[in-house]
Amino acid sequence: MRVLGIETSCDETGVAIFDSEKGLLGDALYSQVKMHAEYGGVVPELASRDHVRKLLPLLDETFAKAGLEKGNVDAIAYTSGPGLIGALMVGASTGRALAMAWGKPAIGVHHMEGHLLAPMLEAEPPEFPFVALLVSGGHTQLVRVDGIGQYELLGESLDDAAGEAFDKAAKMLGLDYPGGPLIAKHAAKGDRARFRFPRPMTDRPGMDFSFSGLKTFTLNTANSHRDAEGVIDPQTVCDIAAAFEEAVVDTLAIKCRRALQATGFGQLVIAGGVSANQRLRERLELMVSKERARLFYARPEFCTDNGAMIAYAGCQRLLAGQSDDLAIVTKPRWPLNTLDSI
Ligand code: KG4
Ligand code: ZN
Repeated sequence: MRVLGIETSCDETGVAIFDSEKGLLGDALYSQVKMHAEYGGVVPELASRDHVRKLLPLLDETFAKAGLEKGNVDAIAYTSGPGLIGALMVGASTGRALAMAWGKPAIGVHHMEGHLLAPMLEAEPPEFPFVALLVSGGHTQLVRVDGIGQYELLGESLDDAAGEAFDKAAKMLGLDYPGGPLIAKHAAKGDRARFRFPRPMTDRPGMDFSFSGLKTFTLNTANSHRDAEGVIDPQTVCDIAAAFEEAVVDTLAIKCRRALQATGFGQLVIAGGVSANQRLRERLELMVSKERARLFYARPEFCTDNGAMIAYAGCQRLLAGQSDDLAIVTKPRWPLNTLDSI
């Protein structure tokens, strides 16, 4: 089965064609980050308008890359939630309209299920069951995964998501949006031992997270190192970035170890934008080797938002006989553990 995937839930327009026999046939992505950087974060209305501008050209590009006539797919998958309502509407209404015009079935995909299954696109995919750490701009969740749609939430963030914490810490240090990659870049030049930041909620049992205290700690540290003009010297910016990254990575690793031990599973999957973080990958590789487990993640461009993960997730559900009716449904809030299993 050949499936067209469309992702427009936030600030990336992603399109891809996935074939269940041949794998990924083509994909294209447009990131709006430059436009939003000027405002220090995603401006929802601008995001929706830019998706409208970019989606049709990206569809043409993807079919051309795949060497296929436009419409030569068996079905269409589009992100129907969670995400920004206006942004979601662009992908959902376009996906639905194309499905109607081409006489094909279509399905709305859960964005986080897309992230969770993205490592399945790699050469050595994980096998069910596994533990998944979902770390994106909007979510931080530890999930027991027994199969597609069989998700049991083991823990989640009680306040900010990990990616959101990266973005806010970056802002405090005067770095651009999105902050995750920039914190990582500066942290690489930092002295990881100069500051010691707290590891929130690791001194008590459980697998929930909280990043708001860490955010305050970062702000206080940054403020105490500003000169009369409010400027922090470049090396101190790197040192604070390193301490912050170290604290987040360490906290995530401690909770992931607990999840492996609680489930007895031997595989850990990390997905979502923050799973692109090199330090996180290194730290988790070390942890899983001690636990005699294995770590799985997607290539960096499939950790952040993309169309391939939506095409893949939609394809699995369509193959199982699922599809949605003609109504254009978007769900800005949509708990992962309410999905049907296949
Ligand atoms: O999955 P994603 O593209 O979008 C959402 O579904 O939210 O994740 C975006 C988030 C942003 O907060 C960004 O700062 C973070 O992922 N991110 C990173 C890295 N690359 C992206 N955080 C830490 N290190 C990175 N290398
Ligand atoms: Zn995402």
